[in-house]
Amino acid sequence: KRKADDSDPVERPDSQKRLSPAALSYPNLSHTPIKPPPFQRPSQLLTFSYTPDHVLEFNDDALRYFADPPGGADLGYGYDRWIKRPDERGRLDALLTAWSKFKNGLVDGPSPAQSKPLDISVMTWRGIMTKILTAPYEERDSWELNVMRVHGTFYLEEHLSDAKLKEKNDMEPRHRLQTYYGYAFESYCTTSVPGQRDNDSTTGNAPRGWGGDVNTNVQWCSVVKTKLGDRRIVIGGEVDCVRGKYSGNTDNFVELKTSLSIRGPSDEARFEKKLLKFYVQSFLLGVPEIVVGFRKPSGQLTTTQSFQTVQIPRLVRGKPGAWDPLICLDWGDKFLSFLYDTVETDTGRNVWRVIFTPKVGVTATLLDEAGVEDVMGGEDRVGFLPRWYWDEMVP
Ligand code: A3P
Ligand code: MG
Ligand code: MG
Repeated sequence: KRKADDSDPVERPDSQKRLSPAALSYPNLSHTPIKPPPFQRPSQLLTFSYTPDHVLEFNDDALRYFADPPGGADLGYGYDRWIKRPDERGRLDALLTAWSKFKNGLVDGPSPAQSKPLDISVMTWRGIMTKILTAPYEERDSWELNVMRVHGTFYLEEHLSDAKLKEKNDMEPRHRLQTYYGYAFESYCTTSVPGQRDNDSTTGNAPRGWGGDVNTNVQWCSVVKTKLGDRRIVIGGEVDCVRGKYSGNTDNFVELKTSLSIRGPSDEARFEKKLLKFYVQSFLLGVPEIVVGFRKPSGQLTTTQSFQTVQIPRLVRGKPGAWDPLICLDWGDKFLSFLYDTVETDTGRNVWRVIFTPKVGVTATLLDEAGVEDVMGGEDRVGFLPRWYWDEMVP
């Protein structure tokens, strides 16, 4: 039996019955929306860490503090010792574990009992929301989501076909090294104690400012609630570090990024285009500051520049190829409305496949049994949700 997602979306075998897809077409990029939906400032619900073995723990052990990186740093340092977490299917399990803990009052911080019960419209990772909101300006990469609707909440996970997962894990050496530069920058920019440089315990001769060898299993994540238009959204995402002391909220979170040094107008235009993703990724989690490390193609750090997230749209406004954040918010709102109108289910067990194609738009299709089985991946799940979560939700 062929897996449903291996087939071409247009020429599907007759044996695989699916409803014809509903569609949302691409937005007009030349008109600022008249009434863009407001985006509420995110407030943090809880945090969690992943250990060096990628075990989920409800503590802040993986939290890192910002430290100025040394100029001229070699971002290729330690490449051969990189402990790289393999790319996996983007399951929601950790987020759902966190949400369940929060809802049951099992964590410190804002208590759900103090406020009205939260009716959550959307629950997903920050990376998914970034993909959705930046879609109007995405010219190259398509993406696919699995979507379930249970008791009024939409759950969104990225759908990675086996082929795409393999492609992500078999990165070209050059691309793999460039990816590493980003993580090495994180190491140079962070310490485990505020205002203090870590000693490097892994090697005796680490360069100045090195914050320790890169293990991408380790992550510190924040779960926030926010609102786009009328819809309450719970988002989880990784936070690179905190500036100064951590005070239990997102106020001094810092996003770290690397980019090639800007040597002329075309580099500048390319960078300004990238700023859209930096901007959206950051505001979705309430991250107010983005520190960009500019580097040479060889991986040598040249300069660092700090950006205030809220100021970024102003930097690109009126420039050639400028983007408009209001178009993204408006599109995001339309996207969610489209899900509301399209993704129907009697039992909550259905899984829909949402496909975004650059410059075309979005389609949504109800998966058949084979498709759902593929999404479950032989695990104990209802659709793509872990069974324990389902049982908790649907007693
Ligand atoms: P840079 O952003 O400096 O390139 P993030 O910036 O989201 O915290 O991610 C940290 C690093 O992970 C990135 O550093 C990049 O190297 C890598 N990374 C993140 N998203 C990626 C993607 N979609 N493809 C390849 N690498 C990615
Ligand atoms: Mg990160
Ligand atoms: Mg980063």
